[in-house]
Amino acid sequence: MGLAEGFRWGVATAAYQIEGAVDEDGRGPSTWDTFSHTPGRVRDGHNGDVACDHYHRWPEDIALMSGLGIDTYRFSIAWPRVQPSGIGRANARGLDFYDRLVDGLLAAGIAPAATLYHWDLPQPLEDAGGWMERDTAYRFAEFSYLVAERLSDRVEMWITLNEPVVVMAYGYAFGVYAPGKTLMLDALPAAHHQLLGHGLAVHALRGRGVRSIGLANHYSPAWAASPGDQPAADAFDTFMNRLFTDPVLLGRYPGLMADAPFIRAEDMAVIATPIDFLGVNYYQPTRLKTASEGPLPFEIVDITEYPTTGMGWPIVPDAFLSLLRTLDTRYDLPPLYITENGCSFPDEIGPDGVVDDSPRIKFLDAHIRAMRTAIGEGVDIRGYFTWSLLDNFEWSEGYHPRFGLVHVDYETQKRTPKKSYGWYRDLIASSKPPL
Ligand code: BGC
Repeated sequence: MGLAEGFRWGVATAAYQIEGAVDEDGRGPSTWDTFSHTPGRVRDGHNGDVACDHYHRWPEDIALMSGLGIDTYRFSIAWPRVQPSGIGRANARGLDFYDRLVDGLLAAGIAPAATLYHWDLPQPLEDAGGWMERDTAYRFAEFSYLVAERLSDRVEMWITLNEPVVVMAYGYAFGVYAPGKTLMLDALPAAHHQLLGHGLAVHALRGRGVRSIGLANHYSPAWAASPGDQPAADAFDTFMNRLFTDPVLLGRYPGLMADAPFIRAEDMAVIATPIDFLGVNYYQPTRLKTASEGPLPFEIVDITEYPTTGMGWPIVPDAFLSLLRTLDTRYDLPPLYITENGCSFPDEIGPDGVVDDSPRIKFLDAHIRAMRTAIGEGVDIRGYFTWSLLDNFEWSEGYHPRFGLVHVDYETQKRTPKKSYGWYRDLIASSKPPL
């Protein structure tokens, strides 16, 4: 099936996972600095202090992107570089970095797509309550405005939040990601305040003339372990897939949030401010059964009948297709971008210097085919961004999982394109109309 004219092929990354340089040019601490430096939080005590040193090696990384022939690069802006304490005037040196990056991308013919929040909240804002506090939503809109003030003349595509469900669930409910709170269902205000921040940021960006704004949500199709477990699967679907999409596209929360005291009547119109596209991040489906104990109505059951990635995640391209179909039936969708899709494997450089990551090629090929089937059925998808360009800091798993098209040796910072890099380059080249 033909792709829409102007279909964007890209790669995605996030600031804390690749930049390093955590103390440079006035950057303040983020929740992830604090979390990763707290013993026991991240596997083997890894942290993002150096990461891929992208802060200094970005010209080399842009050259790698050029070699791929991508149209668009999705990266994130570190809030603590722009507002080291989360509030007040912009730190010009922090913005200078993104200025250079954006100019470098444009010079290479690559469109920048900026994500404003990929989980690195300035620590002082967390100390004041973080996303559990309504005020953080206003701070986020202010930060968004400051970034747009500097970059909106050159950055066309903007993503407000990355996967707010993960921030709420892993960060505030279960405590496995920063800021490490275990509030369980009491974490729901963190959902609402992020969504309010999203809506306020859309207004702030529009005020700077931005025309292409969306948010990137994490989606995982919910499978019931048995017919009797369907209510558990539905509850997970609401929590994971609908909680951050219904309010934005339908202007209302699904059941579990209706009438919550922290929601003000006027908030819903802000949250439902029309967006220009929806970002879809997809990795895997989830199987659920009725919970035997605890505050949540569902329990996750391993999916064992499919091959898995290095993270142990089941590889199910059909679930990606069914997700795209479900989104298309459930909502009157704006155009979609696949803002993340990818896999980790324990990739190693072979004696011949080659990183043979054939399982990644198989994964990407099958998922891109699923996307193309959805496009053939009429789902309006305008771009696909692989996670990720480089191996990087995989949050609480540290540097163990390798998600990149490019292998990174963390001792030397040497980048080695994997076999999948050449495969993706050829795929992009073959999907372009001949000159
Ligand atoms: C996140 C990335 C992460 C990837 C793989 C997504 O949930 O946006 O930051 O590295 O999944 O786990």
